[in-house]
Amino acid sequence: MSEASGFTSMAGAKAEGQAPQIGVGMLGYAFMGKAHTHAMLNIGHMMYPPPAVPKLVGIAGRNREAVAEAAKRYGYQHAYTDWRDLINNPDIQFFDNGGPNDAHAEPCIAAAQAGKHILCEKPLARTAEESKLMLDAVQKAGVKHMVAFNYRFVPAIRQIRKLVDSGLLGKIYHFRAVYLQEWIMPHYNMPMIWRLQKKMAGSGALGDLGAHIIDLARYLVGEVRSVSGMTRTFIEERPWGDGTMGKVDVDDAFVSLLDFENGALGTVEATRFAAGRKNGQRIEINAEKATIVFNLERLNELEVYWVGDQPKETQGFRNVLVSEPFHPWWENWWPQGHMIGWEHTFVHEITHLLDCIVNNRAVSPIGADFLDGYRNSVICDAIVRSSESRRQVDCVYEA
Ligand SMILES: NC(=O)c1ccc[n+]([C@@H]2O[C@H](COP(=O)([O-])OP(=O)(O)OC[C@H]3O[C@@H](n4cnc5c(N)ncnc54)[C@H](O)[C@@H]3O)[C@@H](O)[C@H]2O)c1
Repeated sequence: MSEASGFTSMAGAKAEGQAPQIGVGMLGYAFMGKAHTHAMLNIGHMMYPPPAVPKLVGIAGRNREAVAEAAKRYGYQHAYTDWRDLINNPDIQFFDNGGPNDAHAEPCIAAAQAGKHILCEKPLARTAEESKLMLDAVQKAGVKHMVAFNYRFVPAIRQIRKLVDSGLLGKIYHFRAVYLQEWIMPHYNMPMIWRLQKKMAGSGALGDLGAHIIDLARYLVGEVRSVSGMTRTFIEERPWGDGTMGKVDVDDAFVSLLDFENGALGTVEATRFAAGRKNGQRIEINAEKATIVFNLERLNELEVYWVGDQPKETQGFRNVLVSEPFHPWWENWWPQGHMIGWEHTFVHEITHLLDCIVNNRAVSPIGADFLDGYRNSVICDAIVRSSESRRQVDCVYEA
């Protein structure tokens, strides 16, 4: 992974010496458990030579049969019904938390206290207060920590950040982002699930989808000073499996203005009520020298407009294919134009964390660490408070 460590890894490259193995303990075997494990199985041969090779030691869930089946399918040596068994296993050095949001804090804090390096899914926790406890624990333990804001690891997004850092874009005026899905609209007949309960999820579209684009706002533009937000719940009751009704106490959608410390102005919006939108994430940056647009459904492309670089008759937006060997992480994949996808973001993400662990590098800014996760939570909480109070709210960071 030349992105982080400087070594090249063209196909056919030879590794000098043996990459160390790092024992992995995975909490959760569903959506994210599968995505992370898929990535780990690819690292040893695709991110070559790898900084370390993940060894799938154990996986935890709650249902004995289901977790045993997952262990067999993914190739973990042990299946546990209590995450504490992952933490107590001395062969596990890296704890990967792909559980629901209410299962982030306690296991991650215990893992930190046991000296394990940690990858935790986003949002880091249900509230900023809970995120702060997690941040304090990893800092005290001195372990490496990362929040799985995987969109930082889309090559096109990393390329935008490189352009920002190089100064080529000049001053940034606007950041605008939408993250649109449809899967809890009436035509899906979605019953009550953990994502619709505050005690488990913390918030709704805000913490689930909004957290991603708020992370990109911070990653690409800078720190957020204050917000002015509005949240809405369109369907307030949903049936449990037994037919009784449960109260939805999280947002189905939110919109917010972002006031950046560097003077830029932002808007972020996320919903699960956008008919036809499956995973519609789009961001646009308007800067002094250029406008850049990213659309997740075309994740190997950037739409770019450079101010004044063409005769006026041919001035306009151009589509740039981000798939050259010199684009971030691309040297590890295929010849240019042979596309990569959403799942590869996790390969880049976990390789980066392994590199940070083995070579003692900083996780941030290429990845989001728990400080980023905490600050993200502060912004999410401020958006809720702004909506409740109908006022602009300052983001107060205690770290
Ligand atoms: N980065 C992304 O793009 C992305 C996408 C989806 C979800 N997520 C995040 O990943 C996390 C998990 O989401 P998901 O979609 O995989 O959820 P999911 O419901 O599909 O899976 C949750 C898993 O956690 C397990 N689990 C629940 N409670 C547990 C406990 N106490 N002990 C052990 N295992 C337990 C479940 O059995 C299941 O395997 C959430 O924090 C979510 O916000 C991130």
